[in-house]
Amino acid sequence: MNIDEAITGRRSVRDYTPKKVDEASVRRLLEAAVHAPTAIHEEPWAFIVVQDKNLLNRLSDDAKELLNSGADPIHPSGTSHLNDHLVAPEFNTFYNATTLIVICGKPIGAFVAADCWLAAQNLMLAAYAQGFGTCVIGLAVTALNTPQWKKELGIAADMTAFVPIIVGVPASETPPVPRKPPEILIWK
Ligand SMILES: Cc1cc2nc3c(=O)[nH]c(=O)nc-3n(C[C@H](O)[C@H](O)[C@H](O)COP(=O)(O)O)c2cc1C
Repeated sequence: MNIDEAITGRRSVRDYTPKKVDEASVRRLLEAAVHAPTAIHEEPWAFIVVQDKNLLNRLSDDAKELLNSGADPIHPSGTSHLNDHLVAPEFNTFYNATTLIVICGKPIGAFVAADCWLAAQNLMLAAYAQGFGTCVIGLAVTALNTPQWKKELGIAADMTAFVPIIVGVPASETPPVPRKPPEILIWK
């Protein structure tokens, strides 16, 4: 797959088959992630891989609870500005994907978040090229950074879970989402 095809063809996938992502494939994705550029080559990241169904369901439930109670500072108005289906009891924050990869940042310098997000895009493009679907799950960020989940997932207290990405085998085609043309402020 060429790079243009990967960039324009990647979609946020929200419908997955129950097929597990094998270990070799996960490792390839992590390898792609760590090839991202980082500020002063700090490589300030570490990764969490969750494939345990019960753990994923518990995390999904906690993320929803924080959101619905209005206790999620990233989404302070709860679901009111999001879709109603997010409050439905059967809604799974991870769309029943079999794998969650969380990119965590160590407290090194001012660009850790940027570094982690660059790694995220590498990972998602590599996943697409391997036939997997992905989706960033911003809804899970607050839950992941609670002391309980940090402890359970081995995230050190001074680290931040920046990017939760689900990975799985797409169960259906995801239609493209239109883009605005680039807004160029100045070109001198
Ligand atoms: C920071 C960030 C957070 C996101 N959080 C969620 C999320 O919680 N749930 C979800 O279904 N999609 C989430 N998305 C995916 C976006 O909705 C998606 O990228 C956008 O609609 C464009 O679609 P595309 O990725 O298929 O091009 C997130 C994307 C980003 C970059």
